[in-house]
Amino acid sequence: MERLSKTIKAAGKTIGFVPTMGFLHEGHMSLVRAARQENDVCVVSIFVNPTQFGPSEDFDSYPRDFQKDKKMLAEEKVDVVFCPTVKEMYPNVTLSQTPPDIIPPKNLTACLCGAFRPTHFQGVAQVVDIFFHRVKPDRAYFGQKDFQQTVIIKWLARKAHLNIDIRVLPTIRESDGLAMSSRNVYLKPKERKRVIILFQALQLAKELYENGERNPQRIERKISNLISQNFLTSRNQEMKLQYAEIRDAETLQSIHEIKHPAVVAVAAIIGKTRLIDNIVLG
Ligand code: PAJ
Repeated sequence: MERLSKTIKAAGKTIGFVPTMGFLHEGHMSLVRAARQENDVCVVSIFVNPTQFGPSEDFDSYPRDFQKDKKMLAEEKVDVVFCPTVKEMYPNVTLSQTPPDIIPPKNLTACLCGAFRPTHFQGVAQVVDIFFHRVKPDRAYFGQKDFQQTVIIKWLARKAHLNIDIRVLPTIRESDGLAMSSRNVYLKPKERKRVIILFQALQLAKELYENGERNPQRIERKISNLISQNFLTSRNQEMKLQYAEIRDAETLQSIHEIKHPAVVAVAAIIGKTRLIDNIVLG
């Protein structure tokens, strides 16, 4: 991969890079299409990264379908599919040996999803840093769906002086509003009907904001209540709201008033599926 990237760059061509964990859907494909359009060469990686999964998380059961992924990428005329093995990515390093300069700061990693997945973003930064050095992209493409991840990747690109343009593209949704995710296949039919409440809660936040509400705590309370009430009325389905929070969209810090762009982010567990979603206000 490194040799190929060097050859492409030496020929004066640009590289657009889309890192993924595979089991591709339209969300991934929207990034792939943009990368193809905006660059001479499009590289997509497929790698289920063990260092971003916690010990009790779904690394082993994470959905995989390499043949289908390859077919989808061929249909989009992707130039390079890079799918290293764990050994090739981490010949002799472990998460605890991550160079300190690429460990993202606590104020970005300890809040929101980081509060529930303490080592997750360190693993993401580690793997994306390795990919960036191997692929040497001019532009790299990420989905707004994983909002906190995009903030951390922007930090990484700045910090490591990589001179990579980090492009963040909108969340692609199912027709009823559910954000597409590889993990949606875990949902049982009854759960699938229920989870739409997360999107509805974000719509409620947007509506309140558009009607002039600027107090984040009041919005948080209303959307948390909406989700929790819906979960309480569900029978035999284990559902738990992890968080529904509004934070500054750039720094991820808590705010007392919505003056600058702010992210409304939610996370919930439904059965054995963990789902996240967000929108940006302002
Ligand atoms: P993965 O979950 O496979 O997602 C790959 C990329 O697709 C991410 O940038 C993600 O935000 C984007 N994406 C996922 N669902 C989307 C949707 N519904 N709409 C738009 N974009 C969507 O995120 C990862 O993998 C990993 O953490 C990775 C960055 C590859 C590092 O291992």
